[in-house]
Amino acid sequence: MTTTITRDEIIAAVKKVPLIPTSGARLLQVANQTDHSLADIIAIIKCDAALTGYILKIINSPAMSRGREIASLDRAVSLVGEDMILSIVLSDAAAQLFQADLAGYAATQGDLWRQDWRSAIAAKKIAPYAKQPVNPDTAFTGGLLHDLGKAIISHFLKGKIDAMVAAVDRGDFTDYSGAEQKAVGLNHSEIGYELAKHWQLPEPLPSVIRYHHHPLEGAEALRPLLFVVHLADIISMMTGSGTGADTMRHQIDPAYTDYVDLSRDDIARIIFEVDNEFNTIMSSLSGEGEPK
Ligand SMILES: [Fe+2]
Repeated sequence: MTTTITRDEIIAAVKKVPLIPTSGARLLQVANQTDHSLADIIAIIKCDAALTGYILKIINSPAMSRGREIASLDRAVSLVGEDMILSIVLSDAAAQLFQADLAGYAATQGDLWRQDWRSAIAAKKIAPYAKQPVNPDTAFTGGLLHDLGKAIISHFLKGKIDAMVAAVDRGDFTDYSGAEQKAVGLNHSEIGYELAKHWQLPEPLPSVIRYHHHPLEGAEALRPLLFVVHLADIISMMTGSGTGADTMRHQIDPAYTDYVDLSRDDIARIIFEVDNEFNTIMSSLSGEGEPK
């Protein structure tokens, strides 16, 4: 593996990613505030006619509406809940990224979206087990966004996967992130962090993205949240989803027990619940809610 791709080339690719609409950025900001209400979310969406139309279209799709016609945004939001709304907004804003083919991971189109959805559900379920309070909504959003760097790095990893997988399996690197770093000078967490800054996402989301594989490198105050998303990522891989070559080639940091009080039984139950919830959501979305 020779490093012929420079950090600057990758950063330039990040800068070319379209910005998320103001309303999307604002929604993420508000959703991460502990004292926000559903009315705050509705008020932001109402200011964006295109987004309001898109949400109503998804909610009124045959599988989701179940025969009811929902003409009001207030009703749509209260019916499906904030998580679903946020996911619809993000799937719209970052459609290109979520639907990247991930050729550089030997994964297929849609794998990133499915893996991130599972992680988001898992993160929300794990949040109450943190030893310090963790906002479940922030955990959900962090789970949804944590791996977006893969959509960008994938392009630069094409043709290198076999050598990378072999190197990780041989023990040359402790995990797949190390192989990414060696191959192109940055790993997907760092690239995701650059993307989060490009999008001006509010903290702690950029930190969640940056440290999701190595939570101990993040600020002490953020570690409960970082470990929640770290565990959610691993658990969602255990439920059978993944993004190809790197699946199960990342280590669980055993220090999680200092930050999250999760027994083996809890993990087994959460895996089961995530799988059920994910399947229910996907069948209700029936393709309509996946990124365009
Ligand atoms: Fe990751």
